[in-house]
Amino acid sequence: MVVPAEHALHEAIQVSPLILSDDVRRQKIENCVAKMRLSAVTARKIQDVFISEMNKGIHQQPSSLQMENTYIPELLNGTEEGLYLALDLGGTNFRVLLLELAHGAPIRQEVKQYYIGSELRVGSAIPLFDYLAECVSDFVISQGLQNVELPLGFTFSFPMIQHSLDVGVLVTWTKTFNCPDAVNKDAVRLLREALDRRGDTKVKVLAVLNDTTGTLVQGSTLDHNTAIGLVLGTGSNACYLERADRVEHWETERHGESEVIIDIEWGAFGDNGVLDFIKTDFDRENDANSLIVNSFTFEKYIAGKYLGEVVRVILAKLTKQRLLFVGDSTSDSLLTTGNLTTDLVSHIEQDSLDGGDSNTKEILEKFGIIPDEDDIRIVQYVCEVASNRAALLVSICLASLLDRIDKEQVTIAVDGSLYKHHPRLEGWMKQYISLLCTPGRKFKLIHAEDGSGKGAALVSAIAHRLKKRLQ
Ligand code: BGC
Repeated sequence: MVVPAEHALHEAIQVSPLILSDDVRRQKIENCVAKMRLSAVTARKIQDVFISEMNKGIHQQPSSLQMENTYIPELLNGTEEGLYLALDLGGTNFRVLLLELAHGAPIRQEVKQYYIGSELRVGSAIPLFDYLAECVSDFVISQGLQNVELPLGFTFSFPMIQHSLDVGVLVTWTKTFNCPDAVNKDAVRLLREALDRRGDTKVKVLAVLNDTTGTLVQGSTLDHNTAIGLVLGTGSNACYLERADRVEHWETERHGESEVIIDIEWGAFGDNGVLDFIKTDFDRENDANSLIVNSFTFEKYIAGKYLGEVVRVILAKLTKQRLLFVGDSTSDSLLTTGNLTTDLVSHIEQDSLDGGDSNTKEILEKFGIIPDEDDIRIVQYVCEVASNRAALLVSICLASLLDRIDKEQVTIAVDGSLYKHHPRLEGWMKQYISLLCTPGRKFKLIHAEDGSGKGAALVSAIAHRLKKRLQ
């Protein structure tokens, strides 16, 4: 028997119907993407698996979820003052920031963005970290602060094993980085050594954190109910405030903490095979085309680095099967890996939302394709199916987290380019989360702009305060 909540979920996750002049063609296309459409029953099954993986991870049992202790046991308390630096590595941009705080709130911010070329992103560790140190020096000197002792929070948005607040051992690279000799090394040590080699500033690295942690902390300055930090950008991940007594991995001395931020690292969810029941041939091809294959299964279903590629792989298959662009000789460019970026999916989704086709036409024309009406509908349909799956998957995890946190009201602070630019994710997520969590839970999604940057400076202020207290 279908219970009402499941029925509502079933209804909510339907995508717009594909309407084509040729019914046989429509049917073939729908069949081809059918496995991308998750049912309400499958959604619940994924939820059970996620909850089970979270429990195993927190109890230090084998799990695809790392559930890493960040050693951040409290948020800002309004006493933080002074100048704090942040270094933000891992997302679309690499930045150095300076934040001036008074009474725990930012009163001034300076930011500089730097470019990291692919030879540094995919090379060896020393040149990369030397470059990071060079950028820190450049920024600090340009602010005239080279002789001032400045606490720095290092946002290193990759999976790490944290031994303390300022030790983060890299587990694996993700997204667009791959410097193999940095794996198993402490990112803070690599940065400190590079800063020491220069010796031209007095920067003190006090904390290493993940962008989701920065987002949670930044979100807490906007809304004190913030208990989850979510990043939906190039990569994806979330962290949350966990009860300290539930956390088993705790290497430093405890000081009666009641809560601590846990970095889930959900990008790796399913790397042990627990999610294989939803994997499609498109996902296998997307993985095969990625920088580090056989890793970060879940991230490859949902994040900005990959969503465009999933869509491209589907469109390429439909084209080869002569179900798409039949009347047009397709340019090879759409058949080439990496050519359909996720921002284009967002533009096409805007058309679907508006009932228009101008963005879709313009994008396809750039690929050298003159689409007919049916082609446009198919492309829009595929973008919607892939985007909707991503929204549902993220919502499943967030709903499970809300139930785990079990507070009366929880705010989810969100940052990341995909969330910001995709026109439909937020709306879908609000709807799906409320249908997937225990009925009646109150939650809010807020945008914590630049959580990965500002949040890191805020974390260095918290670290500074904790350090003084324990001295
Ligand atoms: C990383 C996470 C990060 C996320 C969002 C993932 O690839 O493993 O640490 O939080 O991307 O940037």
